Amino acid sequence: VFELERFVEDCRAALEESLPQKAIRGIVERAISRPSEVVAALGEPGEAGINALHRSAELTILNIIWAPGMTLYPHDHRMWAVIGLYGGREDNYFFRRSGSGLESAGSRDLETADTLLLGKEAIHAVTNPLKTYTGGLHVYGGDFFGVPRSEWDPQTFEERPYDIDRARRVFQEANERARKEAAALSGDSSGQR
Ligand SMILES: [Fe+2]
Repeated sequence: VFELERFVEDCRAALEESLPQKAIRGIVERAISRPSEVVAALGEPGEAGINALHRSAELTILNIIWAPGMTLYPHDHRMWAVIGLYGGREDNYFFRRSGSGLESAGSRDLETADTLLLGKEAIHAVTNPLKTYTGGLHVYGGDFFGVPRSEWDPQTFEERPYDIDRARRVFQEANERARKEAAALSGDSSGQR
């Protein structure tokens, strides 16, 4: 059974390993191998958001929910990251620095029960291609909210300081869009009756 407290304790203990990110990937893999247990503990994904489950200087654990169709612009973390999906899908688009901007560096689509390990230098943008919500456990080897890092304008690829409030607005707007679409859909179906 997935227990949040136990999961956090296991991740904290793994920080003592020589390669904590590899140990934590294993812990996340085990947790999401039974996605329904994670849903039972954290709730069915139904509202986009960046939800902190644990925060310290060495470790941040987030439950990130992506709304249907939403995209987050390119950003880095400046620390390793392990992502594991317990529901839905998350398409990752990678970039590398190029001149004053970015160039494309491949992609990786994650489905439920998939994990991804990102290195310190990784730059990615994320899209949920589904018409349903996506839920994932995101574990970072540092203080996700406290370390200065970068984001890039999705149109111009201009680098700017990462702004957590701007990121949260993207999630809020995605929620509003999803609610409107759900309301429009239910309006359509009642109109057909
Ligand atoms: Fe990220």
